[in-house]
Amino acid sequence: MRVTLSRRVRITRMRRRDSRRVVAARELFDVQLDLDATRRYLSDHRNLFLLASDGPTPVGFLRGTLLRQMRTVRPQFFLYEIGVVPSARRQGVGKALVERMLSFARRARCDEAFVLTSNTNHAAAALYRSTGGRTETPGDRMYVYPLSRRSRAPRRVRP
Ligand SMILES: CC(C)(COP(=O)(O)OP(=O)(O)OC[C@H]1O[C@@H](n2cnc3c(N)ncnc32)[C@H](O)[C@@H]1OP(=O)(O)O)[C@@H](O)C(=O)NCCC(=O)NCCS
Repeated sequence: MRVTLSRRVRITRMRRRDSRRVVAARELFDVQLDLDATRRYLSDHRNLFLLASDGPTPVGFLRGTLLRQMRTVRPQFFLYEIGVVPSARRQGVGKALVERMLSFARRARCDEAFVLTSNTNHAAAALYRSTGGRTETPGDRMYVYPLSRRSRAPRRVRP
């Protein structure tokens, strides 16, 4: 399913058949991706890879994984990586990627989603706060999105 962000930017979940397209989106990654590894990654239904594109041009991505827990059969979602190319930042692309990820996590009946970041990454912190991520203490590097009543995440949003 595709969600229209603006007239041109689209968020699309990448599947195994999209492996070459993902590997070709070099502007999004710090390292060169391996085609075989990417195929295996995209074949695993627990993994989510979202590509944001402006027409044919990749402008952002998010990837993460469903994790099993031991205190409940409901999974957690670990947001592992998100990035938007500098020319497309501050236009809502990051927010649209996170919101799409949260829809996926809710459909997968996740208890919560979480992401780790650095205290000095103000853009990431602003993004996670603006999409409902919460931290337990002001110094925390982990933002949690409670998705069910069973989540142990704090109910208060902290700066
Ligand atoms: C973090 C990142 C993904 C944000 O993407 P983006 O598309 O620019 O974010 P959005 O435009 O959707 O902005 C989301 C919110 O964060 C705020 N925000 C984004 N960048 C910001 C910045 N540099 N300073 C302050 N606030 C910022 C926006 O104002 C918006 O807030 P609002 O909803 O209250 O208006 C992007 O800056 C990036 O790719 N950074 C480099 C990679 C990185 O650090 N990834 C995270 C690793 S943990």
